[in-house]
Amino acid sequence: MINIGIIGCGTVGLNVIKILQKQRNNIINKIGCNINIKWVCDKDSSRLRAANLPKEKLTDDLKKVILDPEVDIIIELIGGTDTSKNIIIDALNHNKHIVTANKAVLSKYWDKIFSLALQKKLSVYFEASVGAGIPVIQSLNEGLVTNRIQSIIGILNGTTNFILTKMTDENMNFNQALKLAQKSGFAEANPALDINGSDTAHKLSILASIAYSNHLPFENIYREGISNINPIDIKYAKKEFGYVLKLLAIVKNDNNEISASVYPTFISDEHPLATVENEYNAIYIHGDSAGDIMFYGKGAGGPAAASGVTSDIVCLARNIFYRTAGKFSYVSYNTKLNLNMKPIEKTESKYYLRFTTVDKQGVLAKISGILSENSVSISACFQEQRHKKQSVPIFILTHKAKEGNIRKALKTIDSLSIIKSKTVMLRILES
Ligand code: HSE
Repeated sequence: MINIGIIGCGTVGLNVIKILQKQRNNIINKIGCNINIKWVCDKDSSRLRAANLPKEKLTDDLKKVILDPEVDIIIELIGGTDTSKNIIIDALNHNKHIVTANKAVLSKYWDKIFSLALQKKLSVYFEASVGAGIPVIQSLNEGLVTNRIQSIIGILNGTTNFILTKMTDENMNFNQALKLAQKSGFAEANPALDINGSDTAHKLSILASIAYSNHLPFENIYREGISNINPIDIKYAKKEFGYVLKLLAIVKNDNNEISASVYPTFISDEHPLATVENEYNAIYIHGDSAGDIMFYGKGAGGPAAASGVTSDIVCLARNIFYRTAGKFSYVSYNTKLNLNMKPIEKTESKYYLRFTTVDKQGVLAKISGILSENSVSISACFQEQRHKKQSVPIFILTHKAKEGNIRKALKTIDSLSIIKSKTVMLRILES
């Protein structure tokens, strides 16, 4: 029998308990041993009561769980960073294997956690940290291990994908859609982490660290969120160009230079990622041998996350049962491999620009002149007719250009008196 201690009895914890109970016989048949929930720990007694387990399994005393010599695996489900890091480190120091769904802690303390696990010959599994129930961690870590990963493009945050879908399809405003996402239980305790792209960047940090066998820290990922998105751009780009707006996590390996970013991006409505709606996530990976692969599924919500967590528990329990757990590191981890990061200014993309200008002779010539001086070439241009109001929008799409050049051009353009508000710049994913 393998004993586990669950720390954190929120939505995910409760679903983990339910699945382990419901699948008890199935698990015994599959791995040959029983998984016993020895402890469920939470500071909130009402959450503990909801677990519906015998009283002697419930505690608010973390130490009791970590110090229990019978516990084999600690399941960390409290979220956040520093407290959960302390729990994981403490548990490893007490010779416990770890399962966590916590992307923030892994993206920040990857080195600390995996070097200690390696030294202590213990395993840290984290399937639910990215894409909840989508088995992308194991697939990238093992199934694609012989591929050189050229790019990963992901919709990794259910909340923002839900908001953008509702803004696109149901004309909801940002706040209405966010409220609905919070009510459905997708959003983080602090939804700013969803909205500003941090949650997506935490997850991209994990995927990239697996793909490139070394820690790609959160801080090295360029981030923009979705709070400033104006429905005008979503509607216009959809109507005129068939583009759909998605918050994308993108990591690319370009001749051993790695670029990593998170920003709202237009994609063609024919791209497979364009069909990913609401709280669904998808991860589109290009490996040199496997080619294009797409993973798709529910990336948020209690049952989906619990599916990932319980699959880790079962894998680890099997390894413990057959005495192979921790014999080797779950993720390849080679600190000698330096990740050569490409700064955002050097990356290239096509761009969507919306200028707000006065409607007078020479405005378009001035804007296109400055773009051209900065080596930015225009692929499409449209100006709306003035309707009572003083300012008019001018929409421009560019050919592929360097981010540094486009930024320089927009800085000059936005300083002109003919420009009435800050120009909107969104990147377009090449199909
Ligand atoms: N807040 C996250 C999301 C939950 O919306 O995707 C899953 O990590």
